[in-house]
Amino acid sequence: MTPKNRRPKRKKPKRRKPDRHELYQLSVQEPEADIEFLQNTFHERYGRPPRLLREDFGGTAYLASSWVADNENNSAWAIDLDNEPLEWGARHNAARLTEAQRARLALVQGNVLDRQDPPVDIIAAFNFSYFTFQKRRQMLQYFRRAHANLRDEGLFVLDLYGGPEAQQLIEETTEHEDFSYVWDQDEFDPIQGRMVCYIHFDLPKGKRIEKAFTYDWRLWTLPELREILEDAGFAGSEAYWEGIDEDGDGDGVYTRQETAENTDSWIAYIVGYK
Ligand SMILES: C[S@@+](CC[C@H](N)C(=O)[O-])C[C@H]1O[C@@H](n2cnc3c(N)ncnc32)[C@H](O)[C@@H]1O
Repeated sequence: MTPKNRRPKRKKPKRRKPDRHELYQLSVQEPEADIEFLQNTFHERYGRPPRLLREDFGGTAYLASSWVADNENNSAWAIDLDNEPLEWGARHNAARLTEAQRARLALVQGNVLDRQDPPVDIIAAFNFSYFTFQKRRQMLQYFRRAHANLRDEGLFVLDLYGGPEAQQLIEETTEHEDFSYVWDQDEFDPIQGRMVCYIHFDLPKGKRIEKAFTYDWRLWTLPELREILEDAGFAGSEAYWEGIDEDGDGDGVYTRQETAENTDSWIAYIVGYK
């Protein structure tokens, strides 16, 4: 046996297993852009920066963690029913914060339908998570709770999506460096307005995380949601619509608009104010 052969075998560096939460964050979240939108919209209405944020349906609290890192005067709560994404967020997102930043972040397991927390400047419900409420009375209950949990100068910010493509059974793939994100609209029932969607991740070597996330939603429309906000006590609401670039694609810049041209699919924000 040659000395070379006798050498202890070098352990192969372990490839970290791709993690569905990490892939989700890389695919569909952009907290810096969200924070810029929240800050600008709040400042425009109240002439001061917002400081307290509640991230409803917080999942891994990526937005809330980024919020406390953005400014030393910022604090945030992230609320989620499920402790599993919250724990992941504590181990990954909150763990990257300084001790002082972590002290201004609270990860809370709870139901947004009945939370009573210290009133905040902004409640954000992003990535359409509130579509989980499929009955009008449930949505009204949620919006009333949000209203009660806001300061007198407060904004409730929701994103939503729509357009004719939102009702079609389609799979849309977005390539990333080491994986692909697949948005799968699998069912749509026009009587109930109910849709079932999945996120899958395609990985190298033909591997796939099938149904990494499942959504059972009602596809709400923008005017319906604005009416429910009004019924919940909001003094008013605004629709923020995305501009388009020279190729006809969304440019990521959202402005307040009263009417808009329909496109195959769109994402917009609704901002309710007290
Ligand atoms: C799509 S994730 C949202 C993650 C992240 N906040 C985002 O913007 O992408 C939806 C989360 O909502 C949570 N959820 C569903 N119903 C809820 C409820 N009634 N109260 C609180 N969280 C809820 C789920 O546990 C899930 O983690």
